[in-house]
Amino acid sequence: MTANKIIIALDFNNLTELRQFVAQINPQQCRLKVGKELFTAYGPSIIQELHSLGFEVFLDLKFHDIPNTVYKAIRVAADLGVWMVNVHASGGREMLVKARQAIEDSNHKPLLIAVTILTSLSSEAVTEIGYSLPLQEQAIHLAKLSYECGLDGVVCSAHEADLIKSATDADFLTVTPGIRLSDAKTDDQTRIMTPINAVKNGADYLVIGRPITQSAEPQQVLNQINDSLVKV
Ligand code: C5P
Repeated sequence: MTANKIIIALDFNNLTELRQFVAQINPQQCRLKVGKELFTAYGPSIIQELHSLGFEVFLDLKFHDIPNTVYKAIRVAADLGVWMVNVHASGGREMLVKARQAIEDSNHKPLLIAVTILTSLSSEAVTEIGYSLPLQEQAIHLAKLSYECGLDGVVCSAHEADLIKSATDADFLTVTPGIRLSDAKTDDQTRIMTPINAVKNGADYLVIGRPITQSAEPQQVLNQINDSLVKV
């Protein structure tokens, strides 16, 4: 169970580097996240290639559009056979309900996750957009809306995972980026947490990029993280 908590963020824009990386990784021990850069460059063929290697894929395209457009986009994403897809919760109730409906109408049913507030946004930026609630309350508010609309969970900071579960349901999934193996190297992440602490704080899935992708021994780092989580 814990062996499947890790989602590696494939933030590569070069196919050769990407292939060299995934060749070193055991698909039984993690899932892979394909985001806007990789998908825009290589399209569905990259998903098919990763599937053929035995990986499950989180297609991180964060759909945000009118309900009908999101419905159709999710139907196509589901047909790709991906494991997880996501939308922006701020698309509103009707868009979220249509996204859920798209999954129900599809043969293959990926998990459907919402982004609440992008963690790159500061309190000032959230106020500037015009949200009236303070940042964390706004994120919890959007998590509750996503829960009401039948989504499977949210992307959130590991710092908020327990609060979001308390405000919704213990089974409402929390997918948490901003994970670092120690406090030593933060890259550009500000609110970081270690894998063990994130899981203790209610994170169901950990999105980890650079600590694994930029390691000289990525599979070894993955093993270490998975081993550490067995004890949680
Ligand atoms: O390299 P690192 O571990 O920081 O990568 C984290 C991944 O999670 C990146 O793909 C980043 O875009 C993504 N992400 C994030 N914070 C969010 C949502 C997504 O870091 N709030």
